[in-house]
Amino acid sequence: MTATIAPPWGLLAELTHACPLHCGYCSNPLELTRRSRELTAAHWVDIFRQAADLGVLQTHLSGGEPLLRKDLEVIVTGAEEAGIYTQLVTSGSGLTEDRLRSLTTAGLRSVQLSVQHADPAASDAIAGSQAFAAKEAAAALVRKAGLPLGVNVVLHRHNLDAVDALVELALKWGADRIELANTQFYGWGLLNREALMPGRDQLARAVESVDRWREQLEGRLEIVWVTPDYFDGVAKPCMGGWGAVSLTVAPDGTVLPCPAAATLPGLDPVNAKDHSLRWIWEESKAFNLYRGADWMPSPCRSCDRRDQDFGGCRCQAFALTGDATRTDPACSLSPDHTALTALARPAAGGIRDMIPRRPTVGAGLAPRP
Ligand code: SF4
Ligand code: FES
Repeated sequence: MTATIAPPWGLLAELTHACPLHCGYCSNPLELTRRSRELTAAHWVDIFRQAADLGVLQTHLSGGEPLLRKDLEVIVTGAEEAGIYTQLVTSGSGLTEDRLRSLTTAGLRSVQLSVQHADPAASDAIAGSQAFAAKEAAAALVRKAGLPLGVNVVLHRHNLDAVDALVELALKWGADRIELANTQFYGWGLLNREALMPGRDQLARAVESVDRWREQLEGRLEIVWVTPDYFDGVAKPCMGGWGAVSLTVAPDGTVLPCPAAATLPGLDPVNAKDHSLRWIWEESKAFNLYRGADWMPSPCRSCDRRDQDFGGCRCQAFALTGDATRTDPACSLSPDHTALTALARPAAGGIRDMIPRRPTVGAGLAPRP
């Protein structure tokens, strides 16, 4: 059976859940890993060696804020020596010229910088932190260092009307790519769904803007648009399929098929400290539970789209129905779709109605030795 499982090509390395920002749509789990439970750099170096052996070609070094790891250079070196392409996913807070130089010397290949809005005050309000100036400075440093720069934006009711300004900001910062990703409603995003939910008109205007900019900037700026789940009746091919192309390693070493999967019951995920990455990818229950099509319920089981969207998102199916084996309610063919569309309406309220992601993780942001 294991001989037929294709190798992964990507690894999301969540180096820490600690972060100086407090975004209300954070993709980290509600239960954040304490700093004292984080993997050491030596663990990460070993994970990258195993990952390369398994077929992994690229890694996103993410968090939380990965720059809070004092040993990030050792981790980058480990990935580089394993032959894995490294992308740093950062808020930009704490990126100095010296730090970037030591990271590029270690082998860092590219940087993805998050921004919350094109307007500095609005960006800081959404982030719950005075972070915009640091982001702008970080973008300039990345360009000066000659690294590819991507700008990442999570879209919601409070910034969807700024899509034009966000694209202009990405151009001003010299980015090669901008990812405009509509909020995914699980974890913190689910907790703040009412405060984040956009309006249909807002979305339609944003789509028009994206189409126009794509035409205008073809070959100059790559514009990635990640569609919103609740609006068009189409399930997304979450993670490119369960256990199909990538794996996520949480800060404590738990290996998951996606960043939100720890919430799913019966998964029994295991830790990279206890099992080889190859065994986890090929043999573990967590990676096999929703792999392929055998687990699928009706209507997915007989649907001709099942090899394209893989039945949608398991974490969303669980979050909305309490059953991870059901068809993703985002799909118009799902028996739960009507309940989802009833939620696709913006409520009253502003940014201040969001519950901010917790500021510290257990023992706090104490510097690592
Ligand atoms: Fe995809 Fe299932 Fe919907 Fe078919 S029924 S489109 S496989 S989610
Ligand atoms: Fe977990 Fe979609 S986020 S499967």
